[in-house]
Amino acid sequence: MADAVQPIRWKGDRLELLDQRLLPEKTVYITCRTAAEVAAAIRDMVVRGAPAIGCSAAFGVVLSKGSADAYEVLAKSRPTAVNLFWALERMKKAKDLEAEAVAIYEEDLAANRAMGKLGAELIPEGARVMTHCNTGALATAGYGTALGVIRSAKDKKISVIANETRPYLQGARLTAWELVQEGIPCTLITDSMAGHLMSRGEVDVVIVGADRIAANGDVANKIGTYPLAVLAKRHGIPFYVAAPLSTFDPSIPDGSHIPIEERPASEVTGYRGTRWAPEGVSVRNPAFDVTPAELITGIICEKGVILDPDKDRIKRLTS
Ligand code: MRU
Repeated sequence: MADAVQPIRWKGDRLELLDQRLLPEKTVYITCRTAAEVAAAIRDMVVRGAPAIGCSAAFGVVLSKGSADAYEVLAKSRPTAVNLFWALERMKKAKDLEAEAVAIYEEDLAANRAMGKLGAELIPEGARVMTHCNTGALATAGYGTALGVIRSAKDKKISVIANETRPYLQGARLTAWELVQEGIPCTLITDSMAGHLMSRGEVDVVIVGADRIAANGDVANKIGTYPLAVLAKRHGIPFYVAAPLSTFDPSIPDGSHIPIEERPASEVTGYRGTRWAPEGVSVRNPAFDVTPAELITGIICEKGVILDPDKDRIKRLTS
């Protein structure tokens, strides 16, 4: 199953991206032939999730033969996930562009499998695991980060509580879809129900992904992650982050330096053409928030698990 969902298909002269805006109703691939088309697909959420954005951008560079314009347009597509900029930097240094993009893709897949193995050891038998947003095969080259850990722990008879993830519904549309296909018991809740379930002792562990991890271990992830970490601390529930090394940004000291994307008001005032908020109301739509390192039990990356993450522990494992 792990590889049944393929968000990114490289075809040598074109990139096919599974249009995640249409899931779970429709499975449609769009074709990109230039870096500008890949950048538009990233901006418009055809492809999303930090590692998947990085992989797609790398193939975008290949399509436009490494032109300066390609790097520029791709770098402007979305600001928060550092995997995008990490991939572009790697591509700039590459001699063979196609081989490098394929390596980025394959390394991501391998990193996810390694994280899955390491992370599964942290999940207790029969655990009820809460997750947020979508960190699965769809958000990566395949298999997933936090959802990869969940996949790897399947034999422990776990069940998953998937947060809907307002406003873009990655949890309801994408995570629930992946888990139903995989046959892992999954209960969908709206984000505001998380505290209630934790207070009733119905959550054993929380695991999420990341879009950027600062040098001190502060983590930017999908909006709504920070309150989950606060709630988990309040209720003594372990809170783990799973992210590959491509998500670490040692160039920024802490989370306050992470650029937070603000997305269109229309995502908050309605959905797919239905408007429920009155015309004239002002709207905020930050797509990510920052969870301070002190609220994180451990960060799982492909090299190991960083418990009680801080600057020194992160440096030791990642450099
Ligand atoms: O806006 P999105 O859907 O790109 O946000 C995705 C997330 O926040 C994920 O949790 C993160 O990228 C990790 S994906 C393995």
